[in-house]
Amino acid sequence: MSTLIVLGTQWGDEGKGKVVHYLSKQADYIVRYQGGNNAGHTLIFEDKPFVLHLIPSGILFPEKYCLITNGVVVDLKSLKREVDVLAKKKIVIKNRFFISEQAHIILPYHKIIDGILEDRNIKIGTTRKGIGPAYADKVKRIGIRTVDYLERDVFEDLLEKNLIEKVAVLKDKVDITDLKKKILEDYNELSEFVRPFIANTSFMIERAISDNKRILFESAQGTLLDLDFGTYPFVTSSNPIAGGVCSGAGVGPTRINNVLGVMKAYTTRVGEGPFTTELFDEVGDYLRERGGEYGATTGRPRRCGWFDSVIIRHSVRVNDIKHLILTKLDCMEDLDKIKICVAYKYKNKIYKEFPASRTIQKYAKPVYEEMPGFNGKVKGVINFESLPTNAQRYIKRLEELIGASIDLVSVGRKREEIIEVNKDINWL
Ligand code: GDP
Ligand code: IMO
Ligand code: MG
Repeated sequence: MSTLIVLGTQWGDEGKGKVVHYLSKQADYIVRYQGGNNAGHTLIFEDKPFVLHLIPSGILFPEKYCLITNGVVVDLKSLKREVDVLAKKKIVIKNRFFISEQAHIILPYHKIIDGILEDRNIKIGTTRKGIGPAYADKVKRIGIRTVDYLERDVFEDLLEKNLIEKVAVLKDKVDITDLKKKILEDYNELSEFVRPFIANTSFMIERAISDNKRILFESAQGTLLDLDFGTYPFVTSSNPIAGGVCSGAGVGPTRINNVLGVMKAYTTRVGEGPFTTELFDEVGDYLRERGGEYGATTGRPRRCGWFDSVIIRHSVRVNDIKHLILTKLDCMEDLDKIKICVAYKYKNKIYKEFPASRTIQKYAKPVYEEMPGFNGKVKGVINFESLPTNAQRYIKRLEELIGASIDLVSVGRKREEIIEVNKDINWL
């Protein structure tokens, strides 16, 4: 049995797509277990950036199985667009791409409600893809699963009830009769499209594990966006943390062998919410431009800041991370000075562990340690010893502060631009 979870340790966009693409060669199955098309995972394919939102980042390898499991919320229209793009690139997914029959679907009214809530309530800065409202329906036990969608009478009945329940929220924004008509007009095309992909993915995973196949679980978002362990309420509505694999894919905890945390060499965040090390100066602008820090899903500029070891210690603990990949180190190579946040300070008290209080999260100031810049090239380097001495020191210091080992370092966008610091690890 060989299973590995690859997950984000910050606020998403750590480079999970690239890392999963890198490791997929060693995997037989690549599994998305939570989130939806709020994710944007970038891979470099035929020398060009290629963004996947729902389909696992292993799909570009022709022989791999790719699964979307029950913990994911699926927007069928958006999925169809993604499948069409793959087809244009001659990537065949038939008989190797499957979606759980228990995955809930996102319908057009979820997106409308997402927008209404954003404009009315506490602004989260969501992707407006309907993610939160679709998960809310699941929790309220009125959601519609793919298996329900395939039975037209069941679907129509649920749709009717859902629309009645939502009249009060929707009535000022849309004509509900029109909305229902449009959803039903799409039905034939979308149900025919999705039917061949629907399967019992939990069963498929269990069978694959029994057959000694290698399985890679790919998170969307990151630990600080986790519904339970993130910066609530500025979070997404699912559980990207390692524990999310068990409920999100239907896999028992003793089936998980290893967890690899993906961690950017600095910090970014898209959307609202606390961000203690955020920079509003030219260094923040430099990181944004050098790192191409613009949302892969919404195009929004990402907020940028120094590395925050407080949030990473939190991630290391809640996910039981022993191994990390440090990404985008090359994007820091021209900085004169580098800061690392070692703790937070609020009302003269020092916090080394991530505080749950929204007041402290919002107003705490970072306690920094300063280091000289790398003074040398990082991009193109192929082994740890060839990195500038100061870059090596930076990595070692991060390891000390976070209590887990950095076994891989990513120094460019391309799949192969990865330094294997520890060559002895068999990831899968
Ligand atoms: P994800 O959501 O975690 O998959 O990350 P995104 O794809 O949203 O954002 C990461 C961005 O950084 C993408 O544009 C990647 O191509 C890029 N990237 C990933 N790793 C590296 C790296 O080591 N160096 C550089 N320069 N870019 C990287
Ligand atoms: P990947 O997988 C970065 C953020 C949104 C918003 C909050 C809630 O590419 O790392 P939602 O639409 O999920 O209800 O929005 O979460 N967010 C992400 N930020 N990367 C992502 O995915 C994100 N998915 C959601 O910006 O702040
Ligand atoms: Mg992303």
